[in-house]
Amino acid sequence: MAKGSSLVGSCHSIPEHELPSSGKRMPLLGFGSAASPLVPETVKMAALEALKLGYRHFDTAAKYGSEEPLGEAIAEALSIGLIQSRDELFMTTKLWCGDAHGDLVVPALKRSLEKLKLEYIDLFLIHWPVSAKRGTYEFPIKEEDFLPMDFNGVWAAMEDCQRLGLAKEIGVSNFSCKKLRDILAIAKIPPAVNQVELNPFWQQNKLREFCQENGIFLSAYSPLGAIGAFWGSNRVLESEVLKEIAKAKGKTVAQIALRWIYEQGVSIIVKSFNGERMKENLEIFDWSLNVEELKKMSQIPQSRGVPGKHYTSKYGPFKTVEDIWDGEM
Ligand SMILES: NC(=O)c1ccc[n+]([C@@H]2O[C@H](COP(=O)([O-])OP(=O)(O)OC[C@H]3O[C@@H](n4cnc5c(N)ncnc54)[C@H](OP(=O)(O)O)[C@@H]3O)[C@@H](O)[C@H]2O)c1
Repeated sequence: MAKGSSLVGSCHSIPEHELPSSGKRMPLLGFGSAASPLVPETVKMAALEALKLGYRHFDTAAKYGSEEPLGEAIAEALSIGLIQSRDELFMTTKLWCGDAHGDLVVPALKRSLEKLKLEYIDLFLIHWPVSAKRGTYEFPIKEEDFLPMDFNGVWAAMEDCQRLGLAKEIGVSNFSCKKLRDILAIAKIPPAVNQVELNPFWQQNKLREFCQENGIFLSAYSPLGAIGAFWGSNRVLESEVLKEIAKAKGKTVAQIALRWIYEQGVSIIVKSFNGERMKENLEIFDWSLNVEELKKMSQIPQSRGVPGKHYTSKYGPFKTVEDIWDGEM
């Protein structure tokens, strides 16, 4: 379990981790809301179901199109008494590349807050370490629209978001050790979190060590390999190693993958819009993997499942996927 994490303090039995600036406690299992195609009503209904089951941490992004339905779900949850106060929630959203320009950051967060119907966000992340032409929002980003990010200007504006009380904590996503070092060198407020792909097939050993040494908390996206998504594969849920462990323990493959991530001291963002699977994903906190099982999982061949090809361009700062990750492949 990570330093600062604990099983106490949560009435929903999801352990939490206390973040440094605000002392806000981040539930270590959160509801992911990226889907393609995204149906707003489905997100709203799924979020309400998640709230009923005990989820309190919701992950969204300006780019996902899920801020509005999440905002509606929260408003409804408050009105029907499912939650008593917005403060019971831990909400994360992300800055899109077209707004990753110093003067556009605060207005972008204000727009996200308006969609979410919130006065503050718990965690605001830079979505990818690259900018796009000012105010452009299409995805994939046009090759000619990529620009290097002005880390000084953008990070200073992220810090403004925190100083203004619009964000309790600020952080990054898809940052390599090298890029984290660059941010740490200029930051007055260091990033609290780096949200990255992390699962048994991309264990991120180097990044985990770096983040632990530098007090940056890691959050795992695509914990199940994003099966069914255009950016994902079935390699986690169809893994023979995981299937064997799951069978022996009477657990599902998904639970083995999620439990393994939790045992690495990392928070998990998992997407399911299905009530049964949402419940299944919550049932990972009262048992553990043994030494032999952990050893088998540590031997799984490693590679990125989300290399970020969409963020490379002959005109932009990243010509190849190796450039995005500074060779940390
Ligand atoms: N920062 C970034 O750049 C970034 C990138 C990717 C994702 N994210 C965030 O992380 C979240 C999670 O990652 P992800 O959506 O990429 O992938 P994921 O959570 O690894 O996988 C989601 C897929 O797994 C299925 N699933 C969920 N629980 C399951 C279970 N117990 N058994 C079998 N299948 C199950 C879901 O289907 P059902 O819905 O049908 O259950 C869905 O198809 C996203 O939603 C998003 O919030 C962030």
